[in-house]
Amino acid sequence: MAEDAGRRTLYITTPIYYVNDVPHIGHAYTTVVADVIARYRRLQGDDVRFVTGADEHGVNIQRAAERQGLAPIALADRVVARYHVLWKQLGISHDDFIRTTEPRHRVGVERLYRRIRDAGDIYLGTYTGWYCSACEAFYPESQLAEGRCPTHDRPTEWIEESSYFFRLSKYQQPLLDLYRSRPEFVLPDRRRNEVVSFVSSGLRDLSISRATVTWGIPLPDDPGHVVYVWLDALTNYISALGYGSEDESLYRHYWRDPAAAVPGGSSAPVIHLIGKDILRFHAVYWPAFLMSAGLPLPRTVWGHGWWLRAEGKMSKTAGNVVDPIPLIRTFGAEPLRYFLMREMAFGQDAQYSDEGLIDRINNDLANDLGNLASRLLTLIEGSWGGAVPRAPEPGSAGIAPEILHLRERGTRLLEACREAYEEYRFHEALASLWDLVSEANRYIVRWQPWTLAKDPSSRGTLGVVLREAAEALAAVAVALSPVMPDAAQELWERLGGDGRCRDHDLFRRPPERRWNILSEGHRVRRGEALFPRIDKDAYFKETSMEPSTPTPPAPTAPQSPPAPAASDQITLEEFQKVRLRTGKVQSAERIQGADRLLKLTVDVGSDVRTVVAGIAQQYAPESLVGRTVIIVVNLKPARLRGVESQGMLLAADVGGAPIVASFDREIPPGSVVR
Ligand code: MSP
Repeated sequence: MAEDAGRRTLYITTPIYYVNDVPHIGHAYTTVVADVIARYRRLQGDDVRFVTGADEHGVNIQRAAERQGLAPIALADRVVARYHVLWKQLGISHDDFIRTTEPRHRVGVERLYRRIRDAGDIYLGTYTGWYCSACEAFYPESQLAEGRCPTHDRPTEWIEESSYFFRLSKYQQPLLDLYRSRPEFVLPDRRRNEVVSFVSSGLRDLSISRATVTWGIPLPDDPGHVVYVWLDALTNYISALGYGSEDESLYRHYWRDPAAAVPGGSSAPVIHLIGKDILRFHAVYWPAFLMSAGLPLPRTVWGHGWWLRAEGKMSKTAGNVVDPIPLIRTFGAEPLRYFLMREMAFGQDAQYSDEGLIDRINNDLANDLGNLASRLLTLIEGSWGGAVPRAPEPGSAGIAPEILHLRERGTRLLEACREAYEEYRFHEALASLWDLVSEANRYIVRWQPWTLAKDPSSRGTLGVVLREAAEALAAVAVALSPVMPDAAQELWERLGGDGRCRDHDLFRRPPERRWNILSEGHRVRRGEALFPRIDKDAYFKETSMEPSTPTPPAPTAPQSPPAPAASDQITLEEFQKVRLRTGKVQSAERIQGADRLLKLTVDVGSDVRTVVAGIAQQYAPESLVGRTVIIVVNLKPARLRGVESQGMLLAADVGGAPIVASFDREIPPGSVVR
């Protein structure tokens, strides 16, 4: 399909997410960014395809399923369902969701594998490495602790396993040439530098099959092996377009190479958005596979930073992940989208805190934008009959030039916003829009329409002031629509805007034609507050959490036991390191040969854990099923009688006998205990 003049084609992807983990805010972030890019480019009139999905194969998923007593596909179905719910709640506008267990994906992997093999880049060899039989995994020497497995703290064995290899070493120079000739292949620059230094230090051939793993796609040439998870997973980007299937029309449309004839210009209009943790796979292995197969390369691999907590990166093992679902419930999906895009300088790391989110909602949304909208709409209703005033003619008699300064400034800020969107500087795009909001607020304070309204001779000026301020807000609504589509539409309609603001051609127009997008005489509507304020104190009281500086514990009452000596006391922060969550016991069984131990499976909200507890002499296993208990979720896993315990159950010690802590009412699993 030929490109219309100025109409660009874009295929944007997120990583496909593993199904052994439930979605957290880090996953939500990548997908929201991809959604914002997709929506922005649609606003530009571009031809966009946006795909996300799930990565379902591999030993880790197989093992997670076993732990939960499920078939791997059953676990995958369950987690994929959660992703679908989350993407719907977050307003994600993807065109497709690919799962690596689908037949359409498998044919794509088989086709890509055969092309690489036919290029002479695959050979059978022997994979050697340090193997932990408990993990069924190889570890590089650097990760071993004195030769022992870092997870199980037990000796590893030196194993040699037959494996097919990809001649990655052959692509060292072509890759270095790629990074040099097309620097935009890896962005931001810092990430490219990391990749260049990794590749310059030498590339070893890559093992691309596993003989000891069964949960995967069988290797076409040797079904005793399955395809290495990353070769499998990366192929989703083309299998989702039908590559290898009977209908490759989408593939040919989006993965084409408009510049194939130009030396060094081989790139499909594709952006892979990823977190920096998976840069090497996307910026080294993936282009090498594609080069080998003779397929076009994506234009850009964009590696963004991480959302961190006070303790470091968010991860399931650290037990510090932020679940987006309760945040959406409490604050709304669009304020959360706004926060994610505004708070993180795209490409860098950022710290997540509830307090930061509430501050953004109260300051930027409720105060700045929300108040401006309600003030202006009240004025138009109260002093202009509730209709959009006529647009002023610049230069016509009676209009002071300074009354039109808002449009000059506004036009410049809108262009700065567009440029920032184009270059993925989302936080700056939003900062420009908020500059325009502040300008409009100042404009109203400067011209005081409430005073003008009292003087019939100022009616002309009043109309101009109201219309200019309304135009600023209307432009903000359109330009904000990629980030907050529903709130933008609501604002747009309250201002009397026509149709859907996400279809508006504002950004397709030359900068000087971006004003006067409202229509004279259309009805406006003030409505309720666009963004309700959050009562921060009440929120933290309710969640019994401290915002940032913990207050000291209440003084001990006189009749209480004496306070422990100061040296025994811990600070609130120290206590908060212990993560306690409620969990619902799903199953309980005795452990053979251990008369005091029970093996429990407990749903702790974010996932299902196996927990070993020394309560077998006090509790029959079946009496525990369905009970809500308290689990320490960030305790290092320990092996007890061959069973890995992923947490600890809390119980009172009554004369040496454990009594399990419980609650006086039903509460959902995963609730924080403090
Ligand atoms: N399945 C692989 C990707 C295969 S793509 C061919 C994978 N999946 S994942 O479930 O672990 O998700 C990884 C992605 O989630 C990261 O690359 C990143 O985009 C996002 N994030 C996970 N944790 C994150 C943060 N704490 N902060 C920001 N993004 C993070 O890797």
